[in-house]
Amino acid sequence: MMTKQIHLWAFLQGIGFYPTGWKHPRARPEGVFSMDYYRSVAKLVEKGRFDAIVFGDQLQSRGAGGRTPERMAMPTLDPVSLLTAMSAVTEHVGLVATISTTYNTPEMLAERFAAMERITGGRSGWNIVTSAHPDTAPNFGEAELPPKDTRYSHAAEVVDKACELWAAMDRAGPRLPQGRPVLVQAGQSPAGRDFAARTAEAIFCPAASIEAGIDFRNDLRSRIAGLGRNPDGTRIMPGLSCVLGGSEEEAKANHKAIMDLADVALAIEYLSESLCCDLTPFDPEAPLPVAAIIANTLLPKSDVERMVASAAEKGTSLRDYAMNFMLHPRGHNVFIGTPEQMADMMISWRDAGACDGFTLQPSYMPGGLEDFVGEVVPILQKKGRYRTEYPGNSLRETLGLPAFARADA
Ligand SMILES: Cc1cc2nc3c(=O)[nH]c(=O)nc-3n(C[C@H](O)[C@H](O)[C@H](O)COP(=O)(O)O)c2cc1C
Repeated sequence: MMTKQIHLWAFLQGIGFYPTGWKHPRARPEGVFSMDYYRSVAKLVEKGRFDAIVFGDQLQSRGAGGRTPERMAMPTLDPVSLLTAMSAVTEHVGLVATISTTYNTPEMLAERFAAMERITGGRSGWNIVTSAHPDTAPNFGEAELPPKDTRYSHAAEVVDKACELWAAMDRAGPRLPQGRPVLVQAGQSPAGRDFAARTAEAIFCPAASIEAGIDFRNDLRSRIAGLGRNPDGTRIMPGLSCVLGGSEEEAKANHKAIMDLADVALAIEYLSESLCCDLTPFDPEAPLPVAAIIANTLLPKSDVERMVASAAEKGTSLRDYAMNFMLHPRGHNVFIGTPEQMADMMISWRDAGACDGFTLQPSYMPGGLEDFVGEVVPILQKKGRYRTEYPGNSLRETLGLPAFARADA
């Protein structure tokens, strides 16, 4: 029987998954604005035979809205420029750039991806986002973001138009290596999931447990099938972070060492950034100032009410809430254990139908990625669950998806 292969993507934003990761002795925070750093990281990802590297966009100005992110290390370079440069030092790994449909015209983004397709020789992917951060709108001369449903219906129009433009390029020739970039999405809401089901060839999602992964993948596969698409044509790739050690105890100690890099002030800044509400003036020992958060947040109030509901009930202190938030940021699965245990966990998720693979978000960079590539990848390969060589050159081949049909065929 053919065993189910595991796909791996590398989401390498900033200096790692944890907001404290940049302080780790094996992090290189000074590297994130240098091509020297990205050259070595790109080669490491390719050595680990990952499908693709993904970078997000950052259209909002941090620090707006009265928050104080001075000590938050979230540097971002333009993903298209960065990934295109990374293609010059790699041969096979896919390069997935995030571009917003809310703040780019189809003409602009179709041209940028056409250039990326040609320069990378058919390794480009487009992470389609609609921009959810409220600080984005003022950078484009608008007071507020359009509502989410409007953003997603507009996104569908933008994608359709961009696809028409790539088909026109295909007819005019010479054809783009893959015909068009691989389409990627990360919708979580009903509107976002419907959009992903209609559009995506690969999907990111948070899934903190195997059950959450199974629920999400089943839901997306049934939405995809409901639209008459083949669910096997979409790879579902939940986020995964990890802290490894030679024994379970060592891994736990390594995790604690990362957490100990956080001080309360940093945790409160991170929470302020995540809730879009400045919490730095409040007493850390007093209960989380729920009423002030709801009144002042720039995020949809109902989303924030859900996030703080249990703390409001229990009277959790701002300090405890912020430190706990730091421990479990963004609802992704965080694995703490030995490389062997991690490989077994990944295989069990894949076999249970919780995913087609994972979007690895190393805890700190590049040390966390080095450990994963050096210690977990060989185990997966030995167990016959992960490639030892790339199957071809294009991202679609690497994903095991059929080539995109010619527009004139
Ligand atoms: C791994 C991952 C990376 C993401 N990267 C970006 C990004 O770079 N820019 C962005 O605006 N949104 C990004 N998002 C947010 C998604 O586009 C989406 O808005 C989010 O998952 C919530 O879904 P919803 O829009 O359906 O509410 C990312 C989401 C995930 C899970």
